[in-house]
Amino acid sequence: LVASMEEVEQTYIMIKPDGVQRGLVGEILSRFEKKGFKLTGLKLFQCPKELAEDLHCSLVSCYVFLFFVLGFATLEPRPEGLSETTSLPPRGSGKVCEHYKDLQSKPFFPKLIDYITSGPVVCMGWEGVGVVASARKLIGATNPLNAEPGTIRGDLAVQTGRNVVHGSDSPDNGKREIGLWFKEGELCAWTAVQEPWLV
Ligand code: TYD
Repeated sequence: LVASMEEVEQTYIMIKPDGVQRGLVGEILSRFEKKGFKLTGLKLFQCPKELAEDLHCSLVSCYVFLFFVLGFATLEPRPEGLSETTSLPPRGSGKVCEHYKDLQSKPFFPKLIDYITSGPVVCMGWEGVGVVASARKLIGATNPLNAEPGTIRGDLAVQTGRNVVHGSDSPDNGKREIGLWFKEGELCAWTAVQEPWLV
């Protein structure tokens, strides 16, 4: 009864490229399963290597604007060796830019985008009472060296820029991120059957 009065939330969990390539998918997924949360979406996904999605990335608009303003203001030829793409964010980064839009002004942002787009990620939707905060506890501190043993990052990671997993930081962001990474029809709302499966 107590639990049913609490809010059932959705969170977006993503196993980052290092987690996939180090063979940690099953290990990470099982921690959320064993805790008791419900899996609502799951897919392996490589951010496309084209600029197709970059329309959503405000950084691009910003760079394009600057490119034109500076270009017309100076009316000087582009210095040799500086290609037109020099100031653009990494290719295929639209979805990731949107996902991390609050971090766009941080110095580590370009490296973060390169990292997340460097290989396939595992996108997951998880549902449950208090799942957002609980998942953040299971994941541990952003810097794995500060993450407690027993947490995913505390057990499996060393560097902040290679911290194997993402978890939404609020219920609103959980909904936003699930909507960003999953298309309609890719999520399942399901209820476990009451009958035992094995007898
Ligand atoms: P943040 O949202 O602050 O952390 P968390 O993933 O724990 O919610 O940052 C997002 C990611 O950005 C983080 O997982 C790793 C990367 N990052 C860096 O590469 N360097 C940094 O100094 C910070 C703070 C984050």
